Amino acid sequence: MSQAARRSIQDMGFEDKASIKEAARPVQQSATRARIEIQGVHKRYVSRKSTFEALRDINLSLGSNEFLTILGPSGCGKSTLLRMVAGLDEPTEGQLLIDGEEIHGPGADRGMVFQGYTLFPWLTVRENIEYGPKLQGMPTLERRSLSNHWLSVIRLEQFAQAYPKQLSGGMKQRVAIARALANRPKVLLMDEPFGALDAQTKQEMQEMLLEVWEREKTTVLFITHDIDEAIFLSQRIVVMGTGPGHLAAEYEVKLPEGRTADVREHPDFLALKRELSHLLKH
Ligand SMILES: Nc1ncnc2c1ncn2[C@@H]1O[C@H](COP(=O)(O)OP(=O)(O)O)[C@@H](O)[C@H]1O
Ligand SMILES: [Mg+2]
Repeated sequence: MSQAARRSIQDMGFEDKASIKEAARPVQQSATRARIEIQGVHKRYVSRKSTFEALRDINLSLGSNEFLTILGPSGCGKSTLLRMVAGLDEPTEGQLLIDGEEIHGPGADRGMVFQGYTLFPWLTVRENIEYGPKLQGMPTLERRSLSNHWLSVIRLEQFAQAYPKQLSGGMKQRVAIARALANRPKVLLMDEPFGALDAQTKQEMQEMLLEVWEREKTTVLFITHDIDEAIFLSQRIVVMGTGPGHLAAEYEVKLPEGRTADVREHPDFLALKRELSHLLKH
């Protein structure tokens, strides 16, 4: 990867927040409106004895249909940031918007898949997928056809009547993705969703997720500390640094769509992997 392709936010020499925001905005999406906007977000955890600064001045926007990954070492504040987008936590300063509306609390417009995010154990796979649409009052027949669609997408038609405890880890995460997307959220938020899976299953899940993304045109905000995973999946990667958590650099991944496992051998893939490995070590 050439130096020119790297767009380090700090290296761009902008003085004020507004300019930094411009730098964080993807060039190719200047015509489309941002789906998610994170503006001047700071997060401090305050206890009686001390204050811990977890995130400092985060500015980032995510365009419609974009697949953006936040990559950073453990403890840099990735989950803290995603939890605020999910509405599970509030920023100390700054604001987060979805389609121009400030985020206060969780909503059906944001689907979530987390590493330890469990399915409802008392519901079957089909009932788990239909749960959100049912809450929203979708009629039974329509719900049935929706869950059929998702069971086929995640290739679990044979497991429609199974309960979560009968499924492998990979299968459970497939159901979790289907359940989140069956709600037709504006954005899918994923926090290290494949972190607990073995290497082979993890790659299968990544391929399935890409297929789903390309087909459904879902907007995805994905979080990982896995460089390989970030490059394979993303259109854009934002790298976070620690002490306190901040955005350090941004890369466009210029590999073609319809990626399969062999894209990992592509010279651009390997070059970006080398550069990111170097960046995360420093
Ligand atoms: N509720 C909390 N109270 C105090 N500190 C927290 C809390 N949640 C997270 N932190 C701290 O904030 C930092 C970032 O955590 P986290 O967002 O989980 O990082 P990551 O997901 O990148 O591993 C860590 O140092 C963590 O200990
Ligand atoms: Mg985390």
